[in-house]
Amino acid sequence: MTAVSLLRPAELIARKRDGGELSAEEIDALVAGYVADRIPDYQVAAFLMAVYFRGLSADELAALTDAMVRSGETIDLGPLAARAVDKHSSGGVGDKTSLVLVPLVASAGVPVPKLSGRGLGHTGGTLDKLEAIPGLRTALDHRAFLAQVERIGCAIAAQTARLVPADARLYALRDVTGTVESIPLIAASIMSKKLAGGARSILLDVKCGRGAFMKTEEAARALAAQMLAIGRRAGRRTTAVVSGMDAPLGRAVGNALEVAEAIDTLRGAGPPDLTELCLTLGGVMLVLGGAAPTPEAGRAELRRRLAQGQALERFQAMVAAQGGDPAAVERPERLPRAPVQAAVPAPRGGVVVAIDATAVGLAAMRLGAGRATKEEAIDPAVGVVIERPVGVEVDRGEALAVVHARDERAAAAAAAEVAAAVAIGEAAAPQQLIRAVLD
Ligand code: URA
Repeated sequence: MTAVSLLRPAELIARKRDGGELSAEEIDALVAGYVADRIPDYQVAAFLMAVYFRGLSADELAALTDAMVRSGETIDLGPLAARAVDKHSSGGVGDKTSLVLVPLVASAGVPVPKLSGRGLGHTGGTLDKLEAIPGLRTALDHRAFLAQVERIGCAIAAQTARLVPADARLYALRDVTGTVESIPLIAASIMSKKLAGGARSILLDVKCGRGAFMKTEEAARALAAQMLAIGRRAGRRTTAVVSGMDAPLGRAVGNALEVAEAIDTLRGAGPPDLTELCLTLGGVMLVLGGAAPTPEAGRAELRRRLAQGQALERFQAMVAAQGGDPAAVERPERLPRAPVQAAVPAPRGGVVVAIDATAVGLAAMRLGAGRATKEEAIDPAVGVVIERPVGVEVDRGEALAVVHARDERAAAAAAAEVAAAVAIGEAAAPQQLIRAVLD
């Protein structure tokens, strides 16, 4: 008989509410009972709110993550597991890092089996971006996923509903009960999916700033620390990079536009901030995968791979393996293109001092690049391209950005939102992209 059948859920909730600690068996029984519909939403919602206010001890955090992993299937990567490195980003605007990093790192000999989710709200999802490539499939079964990683070193596929079903249930409940913004609940949610993915090494890109889940560097460091603790307890080598997300990453926001920018970056001609982030994250991934002695050596190796075209070739191989049009990689003009392109003129001259990433993300979402609800369809062609990033001078009337839209009305509405998101002043404060590397 399990501990929770002796103790009623209400007693566990009350103990957590009062600052007490639950055992691993009790947490396991709560999670398993919820997934099996033996414990109702209202009791789990109360438990989540108690966690929101009281937090979780290190033992409770490990137990919650473990119970979530055991709620569904896990992936056995077989002999690949020891060398493979998985990667997760806590999500941001214009974050097409995975599209660059996965083939880049694979081209240097480290397998990257990447399972991704879809975007919600103002941040786009990697799957939606990849699917902007005509024909590309992200629904790979486990066997096809593994075979592809063995053959070409990388794959980006949709996480199936059978992997960590507890997370989907708990996240949906958190979303409607004001309990999303809990660091231990976010840490368990992210890490349960990474642990179930099977790689022995995990790189976490924890974003902070106006466009991120974690608004401050302090909160991002706290989230990183909890995820690192979970990884350590589970015997996974885990490193976290804390990176800034005040302005959109790179210049493009919107699915096909971001694919085109990722291709430019794989050619060695991407925006400096995106290239810098990919080299920093990739350098650490090569160390985790045993392919470089230091992050600096890894970074130098990856820079060579970008310059010599191997990273782009690997991306093309991945696109072809997943049914996508490989010619779209050579000629990004084959990607979906919106019928209307409208410039957003600067209302005055000066220096761009800030671009509110969330506002740009929401403008792109309203154009159709993202979803407000899970059921909404995505328009792959639409979005926003920043023409004058932070720190750059602009004359009155010059384009701050270009909006890519389905029609003139949508373009005008988005242009007004983007104009309001850009602050023009005298001088921009230096932008610090990489805030910390923690392991
Ligand atoms: N991303 C996740 O996967 N889970 C959370 O709880 C928050 C962000």
